[in-house]
Amino acid sequence: MSKNTGTQDLHPDRNLAMELVRATEAAAIRAYPFIGKGDKNAADGAAVDAMRAFLTTVNFAGVIVIGEGEKDSAPMLFNGEEVGNGHGPACDIAVDPIDGTSLTGAGRQNAVSVIAVADRGTMLDASSVFYMDKLVAGPEGVGVLDIRRPIGDNIRALAKAKGKIVSDMSIAVLDRPRHAQLIDEIRASGAGTRMMLDGDVAGGINAARYDSRIDMCVGIGGSPEGIVTACAIKALGGFIEGILAPLDEAERQRGIDAGLKMDHVYDANGLVSSDNTFFVATGVTDGGLVDGVRRMGPVIRTDSIILRGHSGTIRRVRADYRADRWM
Ligand code: FBP
Repeated sequence: MSKNTGTQDLHPDRNLAMELVRATEAAAIRAYPFIGKGDKNAADGAAVDAMRAFLTTVNFAGVIVIGEGEKDSAPMLFNGEEVGNGHGPACDIAVDPIDGTSLTGAGRQNAVSVIAVADRGTMLDASSVFYMDKLVAGPEGVGVLDIRRPIGDNIRALAKAKGKIVSDMSIAVLDRPRHAQLIDEIRASGAGTRMMLDGDVAGGINAARYDSRIDMCVGIGGSPEGIVTACAIKALGGFIEGILAPLDEAERQRGIDAGLKMDHVYDANGLVSSDNTFFVATGVTDGGLVDGVRRMGPVIRTDSIILRGHSGTIRRVRADYRADRWM
C-alpha cells in the first residue's frame, strides 16, 4: 500500500524543515495543557495525535524508522509506518513527540518535541535494543574523543582541544543509579556534572552547540534518542559515538538477529549515513535548547530550532498562534 508516487529519487530539501516544524509546534501546543498535571501518558498521547495529523499534510514520502514503538503496542507513529502525503522526497523519519514525558507531567524543564529526517534507507534502525551508551560533544571532539577510553581521559583531551581548564568543564549525564561510577569518575577528573532528570536529546545537542554551557553529554540513554541526536550532530559538525547496551542476553540476541552490531562503536555516519539530515525541535517546557510553549493572552507562543545537515545552518523559529484557533 505504498503511497509513493515515483518520486523516490528526490532528496529532502530545505523547504521540508519548515513544514516539519509545524508538526513539532502542534505537538508541543497540544501537550501544553498537560504540563505539570501529573499525567505523562496523556501529554504524550496529545502530542502524538497532533504530530501525526500534521505529518499527513507534509509533502514527502516518509517511513518511520524511529517511532513510538511497534505497531501492536503503539498504534500511532509506529516503526515502519508511512507518513506524509506520499509526494516529494523519500525519507527516513525519527519522531519523539515528547522527549521528556515525565518532565512534562511533572512540570519540569527541558521537554522537547522532536522530528529528525534523513534520506531514505540511511538511519540505523536500533529499535530492537532499547539502550545505547553515548558520548556527544562539539566539533572540537572530532578526532580527539573515543568512547572506549576512560571518561577522565576524554574530559582532559576535550578540555585541551577547547582551550579550557578541566575544572571549567561541564559534563551532562542522566541522573540514574547505573551512572554512579561514571559520575564519580567525572568528578574525580576535576570536571563538574550537570545532572539531567530526563531528556538526553537536548543534553546531546547542548553539548555540541558552540554557545552552550555544556561541554559533553555522556552515558546510557535511549537508542532512538541516539539516532535523533546524530541527525542534529551532523548539522552541528559535532562528535557522537554510541555503543548499544542491551539489558540482557535475550535483547542482545534480538539486536544481532536484527542486524545490529554489539560491542561496536557507531560513529555519526554509522548512526545516520546521510549528510542530508534535518533536525527540528520545539520546546514543550522551558530549557537550555529552546523555550517552552507559552500562553500570552490571545496568543500561544512556540520556540523551535531547525538544524540542516547539508548546509550546517541553525535556525530559530518563533511562532505566535491565535489561541482561539487551538484551545
Ligand atoms: P521519554 O520522554 O520517552 O520517557 O524519554 C526520556 C528519556 O530521558 C530520554 O531522553 C532518554 O534517552 C531515556 O529516557 C533514558 O531512559 P531511562 O529513563 O529508562 O533511563
